[in-house]
Amino acid sequence: MIAHGRQEIIIHMKIDTVKRYTVTAALPYTNGPVHIGHLAGVYVPADIYVRYLRSKGEDVVFICGSDEHGVPITLKAKKEGISPQQLVDKYHKIIGDSFLDFGISFNIYHRTSSETHHQTASDFFKNLYDKGVFTEEETEQYFDEKANQFLADRYITGTCPHCNNENAYGDQCEKCGSTLNATDLINPKSSLSGEPPVLRRTKNWFLPLDKMQSSIESYIDSHPEWKPSVLGQCKSWFNTGLQSRAMTRDLDWGVKVPVKDAEGKVLYVWFDAPIGYISATKDLFNPELSEAKKHEYYLDVAPKTDLSRWENYWQTESTKLVHFIGKDNIVFHCIIFPAMLMAHGGFILADHVPANEFLNLEGDKISTSRNWAVWLHEYLVDFPNKQDVLRYALTATAPETKDNDFTWKDFQARNNNELVAILGNFVNRVLVLSHKYFDGKVVMGSAFTEADSLVFDELKSYPKKIGEAIENYRFREALAELMNVARLGNKYLADAEPWKLIKTDEQRVKTILHVALQITANVAILSAPFLPFTADKLAKMLDLNGLGWNDAGRSDLLPLGHQLNEAELLFDKIEDGIIETQMQKLMDSKEANQLAQTTVAEAKTNINYDQFSAMDIRVGTIIGAEKVAKTKKLLKLTIDTGIDQRTVVSGIAEYFTPEAIVGHQVSILVNLEPREIKGILSQGMILMAENSDGKLNFVRPTQAISNGSVIA
Ligand code: 2FM
Ligand code: ZN
Repeated sequence: MIAHGRQEIIIHMKIDTVKRYTVTAALPYTNGPVHIGHLAGVYVPADIYVRYLRSKGEDVVFICGSDEHGVPITLKAKKEGISPQQLVDKYHKIIGDSFLDFGISFNIYHRTSSETHHQTASDFFKNLYDKGVFTEEETEQYFDEKANQFLADRYITGTCPHCNNENAYGDQCEKCGSTLNATDLINPKSSLSGEPPVLRRTKNWFLPLDKMQSSIESYIDSHPEWKPSVLGQCKSWFNTGLQSRAMTRDLDWGVKVPVKDAEGKVLYVWFDAPIGYISATKDLFNPELSEAKKHEYYLDVAPKTDLSRWENYWQTESTKLVHFIGKDNIVFHCIIFPAMLMAHGGFILADHVPANEFLNLEGDKISTSRNWAVWLHEYLVDFPNKQDVLRYALTATAPETKDNDFTWKDFQARNNNELVAILGNFVNRVLVLSHKYFDGKVVMGSAFTEADSLVFDELKSYPKKIGEAIENYRFREALAELMNVARLGNKYLADAEPWKLIKTDEQRVKTILHVALQITANVAILSAPFLPFTADKLAKMLDLNGLGWNDAGRSDLLPLGHQLNEAELLFDKIEDGIIETQMQKLMDSKEANQLAQTTVAEAKTNINYDQFSAMDIRVGTIIGAEKVAKTKKLLKLTIDTGIDQRTVVSGIAEYFTPEAIVGHQVSILVNLEPREIKGILSQGMILMAENSDGKLNFVRPTQAISNGSVIA
């Protein structure tokens, strides 16, 4: 369907003959590395879809890139003490490398900081501006007088009016989850200067979504086949009534607003980011793109057709546009971006937006700030060459219809009980037996039996079954069907028992292995979208070249006399220890996070040096400890202070048993006036560190040092 501008009536057409596909995957924000949640929700399903289409011989471009604008990027740059450009350069490389490493086969991984993008986004805005699409509105925004700039909502913190969290952001309270306006915050503070901001009037350009609602609604209504969760979110926006939304912001990092009186303003990041898909496609088809840029943009897979025309992929009815995204991006891809495209005119709208839900990790929300994540670049260090295991586990538990949980135990079980025990085991048995009995040649003995024909019949049904599931964005189901092909092979071998028959009926064994090898060749084709590294390895072992999805289902993929290569294991078992290490890593980050979150007691008023040096603090050793009768908290300690041996009564009994501390060196304030506690004269005080929960720790030398050593 082509969008012809907002005033015109949009005619919804179903595409009869799809000639080509434009598949986009959400452009990740370039303010940190990517984790398993990204892979499971967006990039693996998109890659399966694209690899499947390519295998079928379809003309498809797969587009992605770094989303390099937006406030989170400037904030992170500030935190890391570098410029926003340095920050995006750093993460563009890390993210791009992770995608390459995991075999996410984009035709191009572009950048929104590129010149092509700035030009494209700027032209797009100008087109709408010249048509009079935008309304100009003045609003009051917070302004930091010290930093002399307007503040995006994220730059403002304050107390949440709902839960009293003192560290809520101007757009959201992360404690209670409420969506906020910066003006809702109590005691707002600028994150730039720490000062309270003031309200100032500012003019911005708004997209009048309210006036466009009926066009957008009829577009969404023309897609009843979309996921209920996607339609549900759209419906709820429509029910509330769309409101005009600012497409420009008072910031200095982004695409400059290309009109008069727009000093200090940039395009709203959600205006420029989706245009990034178009900019990327332009550069993909730009024959003049320099080698250096191609390299920087990870332009690896050459597109098939018509190198000169990016327009074919964005402005032609017969192109099917599909956006893979996470659920937090639904409104932008189903409402705002289509509205922009409609207002511009001449562009196709998405035919499908298969948004996924979220993936949790070990029962808890994945969180970058809490470091509760499995980072892709770290995974590859711990599990080199196991990209497919993660692709498999994430597809098998993909959050397609509801949020789902990734656990390391499940990952291990998927590997050991499914990839190793079912798929790997089948392939390995077939190849090892073929080499053992027939020198790795494809042979044929006695005529096919009924059992063989039944297996071939079942085999024939899989390409369609798996293909249909993929085309309907049901990737879990597709993967489960792929595993059924391996199960079919295993069952066939277990029933036929060639290892027993070899002693009595070699001719039958030849035929059994012939059948089993044809199944294996099918596995190589059918597994390729899901497990590209494994499929490559398997194709090499079978010396199978140039076959695609349309060949799958055939029972003559490997001709008689064909020579197989050496067999290698496709997967190996993951032991408990490896999984425990990963669990420990997560526990460590949980602990570090808890520590970081504990509130710190307020600073005391200053003292002078004389007051400090008046304290005589020494290293001593606890040489005796016992509980003080009839108290819960008190221990009576005997301390060798180097000066003398003395008694100190200390309130640490709830945290330490006497046995555990005898022999420990501690720090002791020896010139504190003696005091009687529960009838015992206490001469001094042991120094303890106490956190906000009251948990105690001794303050003591890290290495043994003689008693009486002075602490100053
Ligand atoms: O949610 C995100 O990570 C956004 N950066 C996605 C942008 S998708 C697109 F529109 F570019
Ligand atoms: Zn709150």
